[in-house]
Formats: sequence, structure tokens, C-alpha cells
Amino acid sequence: MANSALRLSGVDAYYGDSHVLQKVAFELGAGRLLGLLGRNGAGKSTCMNVSVGLLSPRTGSVEVFGKPVTRMPPEVIAAHGVALVPQGRRVFKSLTVRENLMVAARKGFAGTAHAPWTADTVFAMFPRLAERRGQMAAYLSGGEQQMLAIGRALMSNPRVLLMDEPSEGLAPQIVAEVMATIRKLKESGLSIVLVEQNPKLVFDIADDIVILNSGRVAVVSTAAALKSDGVDLRQHLGIF
Ligand SMILES: Nc1ncnc2c1ncn2[C@@H]1O[C@H](COP(=O)(O)OP(=O)(O)OP(=O)(O)O)[C@@H](O)[C@H]1O
Ligand SMILES: [Mg+2]
Repeated sequence: MANSALRLSGVDAYYGDSHVLQKVAFELGAGRLLGLLGRNGAGKSTCMNVSVGLLSPRTGSVEVFGKPVTRMPPEVIAAHGVALVPQGRRVFKSLTVRENLMVAARKGFAGTAHAPWTADTVFAMFPRLAERRGQMAAYLSGGEQQMLAIGRALMSNPRVLLMDEPSEGLAPQIVAEVMATIRKLKESGLSIVLVEQNPKLVFDIADDIVILNSGRVAVVSTAAALKSDGVDLRQHLGIF
């Protein structure tokens, strides 16, 4: 791939003595959407933690737009334009919607193509958050908290957006709204990793698919090739 936004190469990562990622390698192309699939405990969130510097890989490397960021602290990797929407949302419950956005604001990486994100542009994308801008995040619904978590990540004006199971625990109609938002963000030119357990949600939106199984990369493919091959995903993902 000529222009890679995020590349993990030969990554081994541990929690204490527990060897959680083994020689993990994959590449997110610039402007593309990569669906990262795998069942519970496969290592998806660990890949995200390694990518944003929350966990240092013991071996291997991480590159952002061709620049090595391996073992750099999270704030340095963020300054390279990588933002994570964490699993379980993790918004500040006792801050208002607007405060949650403002504390996440960053200037972003110089030369980012699209107009900078501000609280106003986030509110334009999520009108429901605009209506609740003065409310404490604790009082938002799960779907609204997810939108706020996405908004917080956008406020750092990233080039690479990592989303860890944004559909988790949401009603189907809200999941559809979140997916429509992700589609718009992709159209805006962001490079995106979408972590999911449910392949159905990912296959329609992703360009590329990586499947993790027990901390190893089991499948790397384009979404189109996987769909037409009819690969038996149950082997890696359980039954959907
Ligand atoms: N902080 C931690 N300390 C020790 N082990 C951990 C920690 N976080 C995760 N693990 C273990 O590492 C492995 C990979 O976990 P990870 O959270 O990356 O999986 P996942 O694919 O994101 O799963 P899920 O779909 O449930 O979110 C699992 O065996 C998990 O139990
Ligand atoms: Mg996870």
C-alpha cells in the first residue's frame, strides 16, 4: 500500500507475563476503513492500546504515516494525529457534554485536509448532543454517550481514528446511526480502524478486514474478497 496511515509490524505485547499479542502485523491505508474483528479476548483492544501508546509493545513497531512512534508516550502519538474512541465510551460523567468536548480539544496535526473540528461542528454532526450540551454526561443514554465519545476523539482533529466496539450495548436503531456517522467520517477523508465482534456490521462499511484469533492475525483481506470467497468465519468468530 503506497500510503499507510497506521502500520503495526511484528508486534508482541504482554500484560505482565501474559503474552497477549503475537507477531501482530497489519496496515491501515490512508483514507481507508479497516475492520478489526475477533471474538472476546482475541486482542483487539490490546492492538488499539498499543497503537495509541497506552501499552508498549515488547518487540515490533508502530508507524503513523510512515513515522515510527513505537514506545512513544500517548500524548506524542496523539500529536501525530491518532485518536481512540475507547471501548465502553469512558466519557467524563460529571462534566457536561460541552465540557467533555472542550477538554479533549487539540489543534491537530498540521496539514490535516479537512476543516478543524470544534464543539460547533461536532454539534452539527450530532444534533442530539447540541440539545444536551449543558447536561452532565451521566444523564445521557448509551447512544448519546457513544456520540459524545466519538465527538471527543474528533476534537483532537485526528488523521487516524480508532473506534473500539462503538456498537457495544446499543439498540439496533442507534447502531445504525453510529454506523452512518462512521461512514460520513470516512467520506471526510479520515483513516479509520473499526473494532467489532459482529462481522455483519463491518463488512458493508470496511475496505479491509483483519481477523485476530488468540492474539494472532488469522486473516488479512479486502472486505470484497472475503465476501465473495464465502470464507468460513465461524472458525475465527463464532456463529452470527
Ligand atoms: N489489563 C489487563 N491485564 C491483564 N490481562 C488483560 C488486560 N486487558 C486484557 N487482558 C487479557 O488480554 C487478552 C486480550 O484482551 P483484549 O481486551 O485485547 O481483547 P478484545 O479482543 O478487545 O476482547 P473484547 O471483545 O472482549 O473487548 C485477554 O485474554 C484479556 O483477558
Ligand atoms: Mg476489547
